[in-house]
Amino acid sequence: MKAAVLALAVLPIVLGATYPLAESWNPLPFSRAAQLTIISGDVFWGKPSNQSLYYTTSKGTTILKVDNTSFVPYNDKRFAPKLLSKSAYGVGTVWVMDAVHMPYGCSVWPAFWTQGPNWPNGGEIDIVEGINQQQGNQIAVHAASGCTATPIGQTTGSLTQANCAGGAGASGCLFKDNNANSFGSAFAAAGGGVYVAELASDGIRVWFMSRSNVPSTLTASSSSIDTSTLGTPVASYSSSSCNIAQLFTPQTLTLTITLCGDWAGNAIQETCPALVSPQTCYTTYVINEPAQKYDNAYFEINYVNIYSSTKSNVTGSSASSAASGTGASRTQTVGTQQSGSAAAQSSRAAGKKRWEGMGVGWVVGVAVAGVAGGVAALF
Ligand SMILES: *[C@@H]1O[C@H](CO)[C@@H](O)[C@H](O)[C@H]1NC(C)=O
Ligand SMILES: *[C@@H]1O[C@H](CO)[C@@H](O)[C@H](O)[C@H]1NC(C)=O
Ligand SMILES: *[C@@H]1O[C@H](CO)[C@@H](O)[C@H](O)[C@H]1NC(C)=O
Repeated sequence: MKAAVLALAVLPIVLGATYPLAESWNPLPFSRAAQLTIISGDVFWGKPSNQSLYYTTSKGTTILKVDNTSFVPYNDKRFAPKLLSKSAYGVGTVWVMDAVHMPYGCSVWPAFWTQGPNWPNGGEIDIVEGINQQQGNQIAVHAASGCTATPIGQTTGSLTQANCAGGAGASGCLFKDNNANSFGSAFAAAGGGVYVAELASDGIRVWFMSRSNVPSTLTASSSSIDTSTLGTPVASYSSSSCNIAQLFTPQTLTLTITLCGDWAGNAIQETCPALVSPQTCYTTYVINEPAQKYDNAYFEINYVNIYSSTKSNVTGSSASSAASGTGASRTQTVGTQQSGSAAAQSSRAAGKKRWEGMGVGWVVGVAVAGVAGGVAALF
């Protein structure tokens, strides 16, 4: 028995697939909610003090939601949530989110994603992303030039775009999850599910398990995760055609819901009623009374766990600029009211898809949440 364990321990392939728990959030703290210049979309990022956007239910689940109660006058924007992890993790990390509801609805653009600094140079993994009434998740990887998607063995999802290079107008390299339960109303109807993303030296893999298929080993209290037990991933990106170690710096976990913008706004007619000029995504959905337009624009999360074989890499510069931000940059967003507007297009052309305010315009309302069970604060 002992010999067998030792033999196992020297096999790097076995070690590489098992990661110890680094941080567990159940519920998620809101102290890292950030308000900054929005690049693509007609929202103001809510601050931790916006308790109608960030709260915990009596069941212990975490809600992150778009403001669905305020009248928004023309030229103003609607408040929406953005959460950033305090720590960043590099190659050798698995992120897990168990949710019961994902945001959806016309003009709604949620994402559960990771990002390195200086987009696209530090890399970006869109673990869950979708727009409007889209069926099924769309997974994306963005990196600096010289990265293309080559699946590692089989995937259940379909590779629809192979070029991962970031920069102007880039969509990243994409996999479509063919399981409709992976996003939108079908996700909620099936009781939600679990998304898992692995950043490993041999590549990036993303899994989705609808509620009835979540393995019993995958819980908030699981002290480790063995990705070799998760089955065929939905998406995978081999390091053979994308230099993971070089292109992916430590990643900050990010949860956002934006409205309209250069994807949800421009593609609105794909799953929502076509807009007739001069109506725009912004004038049709974002402003005035919310009516019931945003009642489904929320995440309801059971837990987020991070498993890692590397030490956390706390992004000190972001944290300090976050604390010292003034929020003055908010005014820059007023007036870009048209979805798919010139401002959105030019920001995309500038090669900064949706976070060019990073590090310059952040506001964090309160101190970072306390240490939980000896584990460093995440959000
Ligand atoms: C969010 O908080 C800001 C102040 O920080 C306030 O002006 C705004 O009205 C709040 N929005 C909502 C939806 O509560
Ligand atoms: C806002 O949305 C929630 C569900 O997320 C719903 O329960 C509530 O009734 C909505 N509020 C209004 C005023 O529409
Ligand atoms: C932390 O980040 C810095 C800068 O990106 C990098 O040089 C360093 O290798 C990282 N450390 C770890 C443990 O990932």
